[in-house]
Amino acid sequence: MALSKNMERVLNKQINAEIFSAYLYKSMAAYFESVNLSGFAHWMSLQAQEELAHSDKFFVYVGERFGKVVLTAIDAPKTEWQSPLDVFKDAFAHEKKVTKLIYNLVDVARQEKDFATENFLQWFVTEQVEEESSADAIVNKLEMVGNDKKGLYLLDQELGQRVAQKNVK
Ligand code: FEO
Repeated sequence: MALSKNMERVLNKQINAEIFSAYLYKSMAAYFESVNLSGFAHWMSLQAQEELAHSDKFFVYVGERFGKVVLTAIDAPKTEWQSPLDVFKDAFAHEKKVTKLIYNLVDVARQEKDFATENFLQWFVTEQVEEESSADAIVNKLEMVGNDKKGLYLLDQELGQRVAQKNVK
């Protein structure tokens, strides 16, 4: 069964939103590189890759449901932050926005009685719990570290160890 036009439209919007997330996190990676925090930059670059994988999941799904993917302009992301804490507070706030977008998609799928799409979206509902929790955990660590340069150095080392997620696809 083909996607309804409305479902197709909102899934296309989510493709744009996921690519924007990648763009935002890549911009955050660039900020971290500019202040010599390469571990933080590495973490953000992997996050950007995950977001592209998310957009790809939607891309493939729209095609599978006989819909058409229509790519649109990506907004420019923010490029400057005051501190690593400022960045991660933004990342956490951004993930909360994305969770709302996913919940809205579930709402549309339910209204349309599109059970396949509702089922497809469950992966993202679960993923958002993880996304919010990992950003919040780093906000907490940065708050603990405060202005302590040694603490920041150690956290940079820790985030530099992040490995790519295997279950994205
Ligand atoms: Fe695609 Fe960070 O959620």
